Amino acid sequence: MYNLTDRQIVLGVSGSIAAYKAADLASKLTQAGVRLDVLLTPAAVEFVTPLTFQSLSGRPAYVDMFDTSSAAAELHIELARRAEALLIAPASATTIARVALGLAEDMISLTALATRAPIIVCPAMDPQMFEHEATQGHLETLRGRGAHVVGPEVGRLASGHTGPGRMSEVDTIIGALRYVLGRGGDLGGKKVVVSAGGTQEPIDPVRYFGNYSSGKMGYALAEAARDRGADVVLVSGPAALPHPYAVRLLSVRRAAEMRDAVLDECAAADAVIMAAAVADYQPAEAVGQKIKRRREGLSLSLVRTPDILAELGQREGLVKVGFAAESEELLANARRKLEEKGLDLIVANDVTAEGCGFGSDTNKVILLDGQSEEELPLLDKYEVAARVLDRVAALVRR
Ligand code: C5P
Repeated sequence: MYNLTDRQIVLGVSGSIAAYKAADLASKLTQAGVRLDVLLTPAAVEFVTPLTFQSLSGRPAYVDMFDTSSAAAELHIELARRAEALLIAPASATTIARVALGLAEDMISLTALATRAPIIVCPAMDPQMFEHEATQGHLETLRGRGAHVVGPEVGRLASGHTGPGRMSEVDTIIGALRYVLGRGGDLGGKKVVVSAGGTQEPIDPVRYFGNYSSGKMGYALAEAARDRGADVVLVSGPAALPHPYAVRLLSVRRAAEMRDAVLDECAAADAVIMAAAVADYQPAEAVGQKIKRRREGLSLSLVRTPDILAELGQREGLVKVGFAAESEELLANARRKLEEKGLDLIVANDVTAEGCGFGSDTNKVILLDGQSEEELPLLDKYEVAARVLDRVAALVRR
């Protein structure tokens, strides 16, 4: 799952109350298949114990840089050499300063100095310390050296103060790690536009035409494309999903707005994947006032929305992927859309099948191109996305 399996990551935990969240981070990374080595500063050990991390990662956690019992005499060099990324979460003001200045006073700063792997820094501290020129200067130094600074978020802190200083959510940090590990992947340097979610066509100021699309498939595609190096633009209808890290999110509501955004972004894109459930009809006219309840029924006049994929036409060098969500005649309908919309690939799914409907975390699809059809088993939506992107990567290279 994800591009984290069997990756060699070092997690540095420094002295902040957010250290308890690092335990959740360690747990999730280990579950995702990461080989995680955890380093704690002496200050971190005041908040959490090495045993917590050892139990979660199934590997020793290190605090003492002068520990002679370790098999690897030059442990920090060994950890620094094999790390594919050094993730410092939480990063206290002191740890940020040490890493920026190149001081090697504990296992984290020592490893940061010895490694050539990318460094991800997740600050967590009181707003006054975060906003201090010293901290801001050190973060600037780190950015200048190519480090990725994630957060902090604005919110209520353990001190009772409100402001910037909360460590980013664990899922955001994992998104940042996936992004960093994906650089140089097979979609490196390619721009991929993904549409997601359903559109909402206003009937009056309080009502709309919509559909049950949750956006999960499109968001999974955007993340999977990011995880293999693409620059991703996600054009999304209203969706109750978190903004994926390092993905440019354009929020739209109506099919016409989605059309404008997608056409605009596709001008310089290598691939477009239309996973959105775009409304096929919109009310003929937008009513300015709320429609009152009446004794008799109500009929609305509807007109076609623009067909975004069809409008994209045949563009030199643009790979076009569509989705066909069908409730009957799956293959025949999908094949017709593949041809009519001039697509390179269509992802056909029977939305009435078990585990496939809108909102589910899994999907069972058939990939169709001009030559072949490939039926995939029921998979997690991220796995489906990865399989679609295998095809997209091959098409983009062609
Ligand atoms: O024709 P149908 O709506 O079933 O086609 C589905 C595919 O076409 C999807 O990829 C969808 O995102 C795209 N589409 C579009 N513009 C529309 C309707 C659908 O691009 N107005």
